[in-house]
Amino acid sequence: MPFSQDFLDELARRNDIVDVVSGYVALTKRSGANQFGLCPFHGEKTPSFSVNADKQIYHCFGCGKGGSVINFIMEIENLSFPDAVQFLARRAGMEVPQDGYDADRGRRSRMLELNRDAARYFHSQLIAPSGAPAQDYVRRRGIVSMVKPFGLGYAPDGWQGLTDAMTAKGYTRQELIDAGLARVGKKGGLYDYFRDRLMFPVIDVRGSVIGFSGRILSDGEPKYLNSPDTSVYSKSRSLFALNLAKKSKNGYILLAEGNIDVVSLHQAGFDSAVASLGTSLTADQARLIARYTDQVIIAYDADAAGQKAAQRAIGILQPLDLKIKVLKIPGAKDPDEFIQEKGPQAFRELIERSGNQIEYRLEETAAQFDLSTDEGRLGYLRAAARLIASLPGSVEREIYGVRAAEKVGVSRDAFLTEVARIRRQNAAAARKKETRDATAPLQAAQPKDRSLRFTNVRSAVAEEGVLALMCQYPEQFGDLPLTADDFTSPALGKLYEALAGQIGRNRSVSLAALSQQFSPEEMTLLTGICQRSELPAHAAEQAMKDYINKIQAEKDKAARGRDMRAYAEKLKQRKGYGHKDGS
Ligand code: CTP
Ligand code: MN
Repeated sequence: MPFSQDFLDELARRNDIVDVVSGYVALTKRSGANQFGLCPFHGEKTPSFSVNADKQIYHCFGCGKGGSVINFIMEIENLSFPDAVQFLARRAGMEVPQDGYDADRGRRSRMLELNRDAARYFHSQLIAPSGAPAQDYVRRRGIVSMVKPFGLGYAPDGWQGLTDAMTAKGYTRQELIDAGLARVGKKGGLYDYFRDRLMFPVIDVRGSVIGFSGRILSDGEPKYLNSPDTSVYSKSRSLFALNLAKKSKNGYILLAEGNIDVVSLHQAGFDSAVASLGTSLTADQARLIARYTDQVIIAYDADAAGQKAAQRAIGILQPLDLKIKVLKIPGAKDPDEFIQEKGPQAFRELIERSGNQIEYRLEETAAQFDLSTDEGRLGYLRAAARLIASLPGSVEREIYGVRAAEKVGVSRDAFLTEVARIRRQNAAAARKKETRDATAPLQAAQPKDRSLRFTNVRSAVAEEGVLALMCQYPEQFGDLPLTADDFTSPALGKLYEALAGQIGRNRSVSLAALSQQFSPEEMTLLTGICQRSELPAHAAEQAMKDYINKIQAEKDKAARGRDMRAYAEKLKQRKGYGHKDGS
């Protein structure tokens, strides 16, 4: 195990979760050991994010996210486990022990060095005389002045240019393969992964080169080749050019689709442009954006695919409470083409004239109907009313409601009445759902993460009860007559084993130490259980007995079921024989 339990315990002791969280979240309400604030991981207006000083955990009753202080830092700073440990150690002025994890850490920094050396190599190849094909290409695309600030490069057309250069610098075969820069050929030799491509280094917010995108210089396929995910690079958690955009004074992030769009935008002075790297925008990328801005302007390609992707991106950005605008790029296929043809000023005007996402979505809705017919107008009104009914603010509803009503020429009152009707309907549906959830507590208890779903919900509820009591009264339940095998949910069984181990050793529970061994999803499951309403001490003993009995009973039932099935099977076979005998 990379970090010792003792070290992680000490780290958690010196980083009180309430202190740490307070640096990010205003904790405005208190109830017992719990303090509440607005959840930083999903948009909300009333606080459902709790931090428990006794148990040293956080848990959001809204989105369900939770874990130890280490999980919190991983999530909010977008760090890996070891980096979050490093972060907290620095915060508390602690030394990170020089064993165990060091080997991994060493490998990581070696890979970053290799990436940086590779970027330097590609760059030098672009500016060398032999880089003429790439120089021609950047000239043709009109982005010459961006070669330096973006560290653009050229992967030459040979098979071993980079491999040879990096080997000469002392990098090993395995290091080149691990970094996704070289592959093993049929005869066992290495060959360069990127060949004859314009190279875009992907640089993280700390300035490390973590991967590459390579664009082909001609019309071949694939147009882009991206570094595979490595131990330092995850495409779904990185944004191209965020290292530059985070320094912008624009007050918004411009989200484009293409690398070339981003480069072109920066050249035109829009220095807060970023792109997701060949994936559609992910929740991780959205959170990354939300760390640097509260406004996003989506500038995706003008084609149908781009517009669909924009709709998806809105859905991902909206829960983070970001202001969102969507640009329509008229008369060009993408921001790059638009700027190259019409100049930066025209693009600036696009931004200034762009509506916010509601206007945009109303327009998209209008486009789906033929407004010259009564039928079309009615369809538009219904769809627009649904959209406007989902707006939380009454002023907003009024403004956009009036606009939508005017568009099709119905009275403003009629329209707003329809909006109010839909809102009542939605509220009733929400109430109904609430009662349904309350009357089906067993089903509601299922973890959000599918891979952690329970097969025997009845037993799982008791299993969770056991874990909850262990978290609450560790001194009392050090020695339970249960093993991981008694648990029908493997995830809960694993958590039980780990908790029992901790309690056996020091009569206490430290969730920070567990975050090393369990995934964020498993930690979320555990802290959710630990933050359940608590039992008074006098009731705990009996509750524990009941839970254990329930688990045993369900286990017996399952065993009887198995026996019955086996018996039935035997009977069937015997009958079969009997039949044969009798014939
Ligand atoms: N992309 C990718 N793999 C592909 C095609 C595209 O990873 N085979 C990613 C790249 O990050 C690319 C983005 O998706 O930048 C958008 O694609 P596209 O609009 O085709 O690329 P542009 O950068 O706009 O390139 P160009 O203007 O040169 O056509
Ligand atoms: Mn393009």
